[in-house]
Amino acid sequence: MTQERFITSTLNRKDETQDAKLRPSSFDFFPGQDKVKERIQLYVQAAKNRGEALGHMLLSGPPGLGKTTLAYIIANEKGANIKSASGPVIEKPGDLAGLLTSLQDGDILFIDEIHRLNTVVEEYLYSAMEDFFIDIMIDQGPGARSVRLNIPRFTLIGATTRQGLLSSPLRSRFALSCRLDFYSADELKHILLRSAGILKIEINPDGAFEIARRSRGTPRIANNLLAWARDYAQVKADNHITADVASAALKMIGIDDTGLDEWDNRILETIIFKFDSGPVGVKSIAVAIGEEEDTIEEVYEPFLIQEGYLMRTPQGRTVTDKARERFGLPPADRMSKGKRKASDHPELF
Ligand SMILES: Nc1ncnc2c1ncn2[C@@H]1O[C@H](COP(=O)(O)OP(=O)(O)OP(=O)(O)O)[C@@H](O)[C@H]1O
Ligand SMILES: [Mg+2]
Repeated sequence: MTQERFITSTLNRKDETQDAKLRPSSFDFFPGQDKVKERIQLYVQAAKNRGEALGHMLLSGPPGLGKTTLAYIIANEKGANIKSASGPVIEKPGDLAGLLTSLQDGDILFIDEIHRLNTVVEEYLYSAMEDFFIDIMIDQGPGARSVRLNIPRFTLIGATTRQGLLSSPLRSRFALSCRLDFYSADELKHILLRSAGILKIEINPDGAFEIARRSRGTPRIANNLLAWARDYAQVKADNHITADVASAALKMIGIDDTGLDEWDNRILETIIFKFDSGPVGVKSIAVAIGEEEDTIEEVYEPFLIQEGYLMRTPQGRTVTDKARERFGLPPADRMSKGKRKASDHPELF
């Protein structure tokens, strides 16, 4: 197994089989996200009491925090069928029409990566969400005509890692919008102990905490690190994961004591040393380190920002003094930065 396999973007890649196995089906086994849970529970209860379909909901937040899991829990709590699709897969209005007409009253349609719906399909979705019909064009040229299809009263649950990329007409059609945040180490510890039970992995609470606090606040990463620690323990530690075993296992794959991995460090180093601590655009960072822009924005940046290493400014990304300190550098001299004095560059003035 190469170290490359364990970079964060890989640890956070969706493995639907593993995700599904560990996905809790009720709020009782879904620790964390208290505010979001409370709002959703109330919303579902109210709709149930009135005997109505749920209003459309949007779930947003970085990958691996539980958006898909929540959609399934909502369906479960409401006692509704759920059908799942993904933004990029719904290519034509006809695809959307096919999906919508296959639903029944009260069903939930879950659209993952909803920010990646193309604009034509998105416009068809508006009338479906609002008035439960779509007008589909049949034929082309002079024979073209439009046919109105009525659709059952469904509930759309959209999920997105990039709420900012959603058009405002689409965003405004959701009755409830919930943003998921990173989990605390304690919450992740509970998730890990439950996962270990399901996967029959021997781990003590300290071992679970050690993995939890180095999992970037993300359940999917925590579960994947647990699987790695299990392999490690099998070979090196009698199958039992303690804090020391977890620590050695994580060290072996380049995850440091603060939970940052090599790519986090590479991003920070690049901004500091190649771009004079910023501001620098995400495109330049992507080119400099050879990683996709989207991955940097969706996977790495949110955690680096939350941990106080990085800032997004209108001019681009800047590192904080905490990041400079990590590399043994003094705080940035912000006063002099960007202000060129004539005496420094006589040739320019
Ligand atoms: N609160 C939670 N409690 C227990 N397990 C969780 C929780 N949140 C997420 N998980 C686990 O983490 C994994 C990833 O969750 P999920 O697939 O719901 O994330 P997501 O937000 O939909 O990610 P993506 O944006 O990549 O689609 C699943 O295996 C799920 O079991
Ligand atoms: Mg998902």
